[in-house]
Amino acid sequence: MKNFQIALIPGDGIGPEVVAEGVKVLQAIEGMDASISFSFTTFPWGCEYYLQHGKMMDDDGLEQLKPFDAIYLGAVGYPGVPDHISLRDLLIKIRKQFDQYVNLRPVTLLHSSLTPLKAKTEKDIDFLVIRENSEGEYAGAGDWLYKGMPEEVVLQTGVFSRKGTERIIRYAYEEARESNRTLTSVSKGNALNYSMVFWDEVFAEVGKEYPDVKTYSYLVDAASLYFVTNPERFEIVVTSNLFGDILTDIGAAITGGMGLATGANVNPEKTFPSMFEPVHGSAPDIAGKGIANPLAAIWSISQLMDFFEEGQWGRAILHTIKRMLEDKEQLTPDLGGKASTSEVGDQFVELLKRLTVGRE
Ligand SMILES: NC(=O)c1ccc[n+]([C@@H]2O[C@H](COP(=O)([O-])OP(=O)(O)OC[C@H]3O[C@@H](n4cnc5c(N)ncnc54)[C@H](O)[C@@H]3O)[C@@H](O)[C@H]2O)c1
Repeated sequence: MKNFQIALIPGDGIGPEVVAEGVKVLQAIEGMDASISFSFTTFPWGCEYYLQHGKMMDDDGLEQLKPFDAIYLGAVGYPGVPDHISLRDLLIKIRKQFDQYVNLRPVTLLHSSLTPLKAKTEKDIDFLVIRENSEGEYAGAGDWLYKGMPEEVVLQTGVFSRKGTERIIRYAYEEARESNRTLTSVSKGNALNYSMVFWDEVFAEVGKEYPDVKTYSYLVDAASLYFVTNPERFEIVVTSNLFGDILTDIGAAITGGMGLATGANVNPEKTFPSMFEPVHGSAPDIAGKGIANPLAAIWSISQLMDFFEEGQWGRAILHTIKRMLEDKEQLTPDLGGKASTSEVGDQFVELLKRLTVGRE
């Protein structure tokens, strides 16, 4: 029997609402698979915690999280706490300190009705964005000089180390080789004359070790255009922290929106726990209404199961999401349905059981 210890950080807004549905799915798996069990520990960190304690997480929070096999996070950020504090002092802190340098964001159309792109179907939109997740434009390096004075200057320095750049690019080449897919690097060497010229050089250099992988290189502006006009060009995409963040929102827009976008923050060496989360934020506009779409958070569970090398469950979850999407009535309002968050979770679990146990 394998026991996986999971740290839950439901966070703010709709975070706790969608995490509850992901946990339902894990509990259902436990009930169906005698070889797997999960233990959950919930951490109350987030904006409410900040307002009470003046910090987003405990001082020894990372120490507390370290023994876990994985972290399952809802969302952080809420009006009343500046976003740069909520994001940097919890989410980005965990990503950086736990060296979760790989951010895996699938851009996969699960049902053709979900894309606003005319004439595009499931076969046209199915790729994986591998985003650098530990440095780059989000390194937090910079300065704020002469604050409030006429001479005011702010510096936000992108940090691209050889180690950091090489390892994410190598990870992407490995993934492309293993899955026999093409690899596209997205950068901006024409304008960012240090960081992105370096990125392009490393991409070419590492590529010499992978002559079997077919590669493309696009500038981020052109890539943004192709995400919309020709998504079928892409199979695996590797890019920097900021570009990956923005491009994957376009990815979400062409595949059904924020309620269906997932991301895994992976430490491939497993020195630290990896973290699984929907891409969306805390959605204060719909928080507490019980209408948040939990499917992105449930898709994160699929990524979690793949990470635990329980790929049969990863695939079963994804297949069940696809089946759910066939019937609009049982979806949340963002996807045109009338169901509540917990109704979607309940129906998901029922269908997963039917498809798995009943081999439907
Ligand atoms: N990973 C994270 O924790 C994360 C990511 C992005 C933003 N944030 C934070 O979340 C807060 C809100 O940010 P935002 O409004 O820019 O982004 P958001 O993703 O929270 O919301 C954007 C829009 O998408 C909708 N939406 C998002 N998730 C949905 C879901 N599951 N079901 C249905 N609709 C959904 C929202 O209602 C809103 O209209 C901010 O404090 C921000 O810093 C956190």
